[in-house]
Amino acid sequence: MTYNFDEVIDRIGTGSSKWDKMESLYGLDPHEGIPMWVADMDFKPPQSVLGCVKDMAEHGVFGYGGDHKAYTEAICGWMERRHGWTVDPTWIFSCHGMMNGISLAIQQFTNEGDGVIIFTPVYHGFISAVNANNRRLVESELINNNGRLEMDFEALETLLRGDEKLVILCSPHNPGGRVWTYEELRELGAFCAKHDLILVSDEVHHDLVFTGNKHIPMAMAMPEIVDRLITLSGATKTFNLAGMHTGNVIIEDPDLRKVFSAGLSAGSLSPSAIGVAMATAAYNGGDEWLTEVLDYLDGNRKIFDAGMNAIPGVESMPLQATYLAWVDFRGLGMSAAEIKDRIQDTAKIAVSPGPIFGKGGEGYMRFNLATRRALVEEAVDRLSAAFSDLQ
Ligand SMILES: Cc1ncc(COP(=O)(O)O)c(C=O)c1O
Repeated sequence: MTYNFDEVIDRIGTGSSKWDKMESLYGLDPHEGIPMWVADMDFKPPQSVLGCVKDMAEHGVFGYGGDHKAYTEAICGWMERRHGWTVDPTWIFSCHGMMNGISLAIQQFTNEGDGVIIFTPVYHGFISAVNANNRRLVESELINNNGRLEMDFEALETLLRGDEKLVILCSPHNPGGRVWTYEELRELGAFCAKHDLILVSDEVHHDLVFTGNKHIPMAMAMPEIVDRLITLSGATKTFNLAGMHTGNVIIEDPDLRKVFSAGLSAGSLSPSAIGVAMATAAYNGGDEWLTEVLDYLDGNRKIFDAGMNAIPGVESMPLQATYLAWVDFRGLGMSAAEIKDRIQDTAKIAVSPGPIFGKGGEGYMRFNLATRRALVEEAVDRLSAAFSDLQ
């Protein structure tokens, strides 16, 4: 192992959302509480990224960037090498993170009041983006089939009113960690073609996939629908660079590109030079780090799942991807308030409550496992103690 993910890195007082907002939002002293809510990692990124930031600081001039050749080449190289997807550099736009790209797509490809379909429970940012843009939220609830979330197109058909214009897919899915199969992606693609829907495929978790599963870019699963497809990805989740707010929007179809580009111009949006440099360094030098972090996260999830599943009535969904455990507390037969009380007030752990992820989230909690092993073990011990009366 080149990297040491057990290193204790104190993030308190660094302006970190996850650590420094725990007190105001959860009433938990960051020296005592364990933050398992915001989806970033407590790890340093690959050496190539740290070296790049150090070099920039030593160079000391932070003027306008603009030559993005190395950046787009790094993205194309990564997509080809890691995902077998041949991307042309001219298809790539940079945006201010995934949600910026998604909101722009909503604004550019739909009108106020139009329906936007999401598969819930899903990353809560999708819900806020649809609502904040005054579009009609269409929640298609995923089915929990023996611990595996699945899309239900038959039920979705019955929800349609005819004003739906766009679908936002989370692939791999957060929460629940599903890696959608080729058949599932094709079924969704066919659904979009049938109902004339633009498909925004948020693939930001594409690299955080556990052994035995394979992420398939939507563009490869269903090339027939590239004329209605917008793919988002980024180095941000993969390499823990979320604070740099730099994402990739990949659009093969020239007509869609024209419309999306007009939105970037209208917002006077252009990428941050430091974000572009960090993403480039991550893609060019991050392969070994990624292999090691995935191995470490796999260890964390096994420890966490074993601890959670040992509590009668509690079930942690087997993750195929992501470091975000999705835990079902419904079997306890307790009220949401009592579950929150035990996790937050007794175990002193800050988690994301299921209902913020939309329909189907009731009775669940999401736990971020991307922290040092000792904290995951401590969390498991505290949770086991908080529910010990049931064992
Ligand atoms: C699926 C998904 N999309 C988007 C985001 C947010 O990305 P960004 O911070 O780049 O807007 C997250 C964050 O957890 C996410 O899980």
